[in-house]
Amino acid sequence: MEQVHRIDHPLITHKMTHIRDKNTGPKEFKELVEEVSLLLAYEVTRDLALEEVTIETPCASTKGRVLAGCKIGIVPILRAGLGMVDSMLTLIPHAKVGHLGIYRNENSLEPVEYYWKLPQDISKREVMVVDPMLATGGTAVAALRFLRSKGVRKMKFVCLISVPEGIRAVKEKFPEVPIYTAAIDSHLDERGYIIPGLGDAGDRLYGTE
Ligand code: URA
Repeated sequence: MEQVHRIDHPLITHKMTHIRDKNTGPKEFKELVEEVSLLLAYEVTRDLALEEVTIETPCASTKGRVLAGCKIGIVPILRAGLGMVDSMLTLIPHAKVGHLGIYRNENSLEPVEYYWKLPQDISKREVMVVDPMLATGGTAVAALRFLRSKGVRKMKFVCLISVPEGIRAVKEKFPEVPIYTAAIDSHLDERGYIIPGLGDAGDRLYGTE
């Protein structure tokens, strides 16, 4: 699928297997989410622009390239998206973080916005929306729509697990937004859970099951 980047790497595959395991407790789960997010961040930033600079090594003058100063925003969808933020910041420390609270109504599965706080200059930033699970796509589409309404032009969606239903929903409304995912699972169950998935990402991160 065009614009869908399934990041295939033995370290990610290994860590995702432990993330999925129901016997993995919140501490290890959180650490693994952070580690996979770090590996994803590496791929998500692959197309950042560089500019040439001249530097002095201890031995000689040489040309090098550094990031061209592209302004990045990271927007986790609360609350599970929070688990991915620190890793993204580790690799992109100059990024600013906005927060967006959207939950799925358990009956209608419709997204409900309940909180947001964004950097003032969000419209000038390339924004990475992070949420571990791309399930129905309702929350992702609502988040992207919300950010677009705030003037954001360039967006990427970063998740750990997606399903074809969610990918289709995002692609239909935002064909220009690339999706980065560590796994594409089989389908959704009748409650909107990803199968096989990992259960409720927020509950597993914060031990609220
Ligand atoms: N959100 C989750 O946390 N898990 C799912 O399986 C689907 C949506």
